Amino acid sequence: MKIILLGPPGSGKGTVSDQLSQDFSLLHISPGELLREEVQKGTSIGKKIKTVINEGKLVPAQFVVEMVKLEVEGTKDYILDGFPRSVDQAKLIDDLPIDRVISLEVNEEDVITRLANRRVCSRGQHSYHLTIIPPKNEGVCDVDGTPLVRRPDDDPKIIKERFKVFRRETEPVIAYYQQKGILTSIDASKNPKEVYAAVKKIVFNIK
Ligand code: AP5
Ligand code: MG
Repeated sequence: MKIILLGPPGSGKGTVSDQLSQDFSLLHISPGELLREEVQKGTSIGKKIKTVINEGKLVPAQFVVEMVKLEVEGTKDYILDGFPRSVDQAKLIDDLPIDRVISLEVNEEDVITRLANRRVCSRGQHSYHLTIIPPKNEGVCDVDGTPLVRRPDDDPKIIKERFKVFRRETEPVIAYYQQKGILTSIDASKNPKEVYAAVKKIVFNIK
């Protein structure tokens, strides 16, 4: 199964992808996470990426597409989390077979509240919500035990810019897949359990 998960910042793409990959052994490919890993390495390319992410803008299409294509090589089942994010990127992966595209819909106000409550582990791989999806021990990641921190781009000003970029660059991608007849939209303002159930029903017809 090859799935694309789209949606604005904070719509729950990472949360749903983590659950799907655990329950159905799909490879979770998040360009956002791969880019943050590059930033953590402190390479010269990582420094450039850091500036782009912290402005809430998009990293150049060619770079992200090549990164994703390397990840999917030889993999049968995967979820692309937040990719493609522009029509240019979508056209560059037209040669990849995609079974279903899911668009998580949530408004900007809800996203700002969610992201104010998001904490991620210091490795950037596991994400929590202070009240809705709290860690077992306050301030510590359940999986790797590292301290929980805020993502630098979860600053309200940067969230606004990320949302603007989503409207301008990614909403046309949703229309692009709608025309291909493989898109389903979900109300992602509901609680995580309901959102995940809706996704499973679409992807695997499981209740
Ligand atoms: P990326 O890391 O992908 O960020 P994003 O798209 O802005 O989305 P987020 O990761 O912030 O949110 P999410 O939808 O994953 O929500 P989550 O599950 O964490 O990208 C970061 C940057 O990298 C981009 O801005 C860009 O610069 C660059 N980049 C990435 N991809 C690129 C590409 N293709 N091309 C170019 N540049 C690219 O949930 C959010 C919070 O809400 C959490 O606290 C969670 O616990 C909670 N939550 C989840 N579900 C629910 C629910 N149903 N109800 C209440 N709370 C919930
Ligand atoms: Mg994410």
